[in-house]
Amino acid sequence: MAFALNVPKLSFTGEGAVEESVAILSQKNLKKALVVSDKNLVDLGILDSLFSALKDADFDYVVFSEVTPNPTASLVRKGASFYKESECDCFIAVGGGSPVDCAKAIRIVTSNEGDICDFDGVGLVKNEGAFFIAINTTAGTSAEMTSNSVITDEDNAVKMVIVDAKQIPDIAVNDPTLMIGLPKSVTAATGMDALTHAIESYVTPGAHTLTKPTALEAIRLIAKWLPVAVEDGSNLNAREQMACAQFLAGMSFNSAGLGLVHAMAHQPGATHDLPHGVCNAILLPVVCEFNSETNPEPFRAVAEAMGGITFDLNDAQAATLAVELINKLSIEVGIPSGFSELSIAETDLEVWIDKAMADVCLGGNPRQPNPEEVLALYKKAM
Ligand SMILES: [Fe+2]
Repeated sequence: MAFALNVPKLSFTGEGAVEESVAILSQKNLKKALVVSDKNLVDLGILDSLFSALKDADFDYVVFSEVTPNPTASLVRKGASFYKESECDCFIAVGGGSPVDCAKAIRIVTSNEGDICDFDGVGLVKNEGAFFIAINTTAGTSAEMTSNSVITDEDNAVKMVIVDAKQIPDIAVNDPTLMIGLPKSVTAATGMDALTHAIESYVTPGAHTLTKPTALEAIRLIAKWLPVAVEDGSNLNAREQMACAQFLAGMSFNSAGLGLVHAMAHQPGATHDLPHGVCNAILLPVVCEFNSETNPEPFRAVAEAMGGITFDLNDAQAATLAVELINKLSIEVGIPSGFSELSIAETDLEVWIDKAMADVCLGGNPRQPNPEEVLALYKKAM
């Protein structure tokens, strides 16, 4: 079967990217945008350059700023009603993964029959939906350029992972000036999410010649620039390098797939509302160690991309070095050392096992675990 490389039609990266994307929008025969974001970003003035560009272009819009972390199905339904009542005909999402994923989901239900929960899974979206600009403010989930959206089905306490290339925004925007004010903890968590995307998509059997170089370059950039961006959030070059790194990681995982780290990380995110990047960062070294026990070879390149010297090491030793370097980076950027630091008790772990085993990301992992192994890995991550 031929390999499908899924990327947005157009991407703007660098200062002025917001204005460039609005210039394209204003050339379309469209009338009114639903701007999907969160209240905090609006209050911080992160959307001001977008609002100015829309006003300059005389393009009408309404703002749906109710998005919360880990957006829920009921929030998607509310956004869809607002879109229809306001007679919008296009979308502009501004934020990290949560507002962009929420906009993707609203776009699905405003152009397809059914409830958002009907689209949980792979390839269930029939119609692509309205014109869609996604403006990224973190680095990052890569949500601005991927085929995935993660929505919490609060009735069943499960994170739905909707996977369909029809969700890819028409224009992906990365303007590092919007990322300057991102707090240290969010910079660290989203950066470690991007590292997880790069590593999981590099070691998966789904990796391809077209995706491996972008994954490795993402790992190299993150190892170099994430500590700088966390230490000095106003360093525009560090912000831009991280924006590029997370985009490269997105180019890789969007087509190659993810793995067990994401399958396991989605569960504490759903039940305890923990930040996605923090859950990934805690699980990443534990799962890398598990995966490398059966095939350490791909982890040599991971160690090297993270700055490790491997020429005198065998594959198993190089994989151990990769895990050490991941742990070192986590500590350097201030990630909690385990779930116990996040008020998780051992009794919480059992609930996550079946859902992790059923998660759509698990299939991409190079080593398929049994439920007992998943529990052991969760315990190791405490
Ligand atoms: Fe992720």
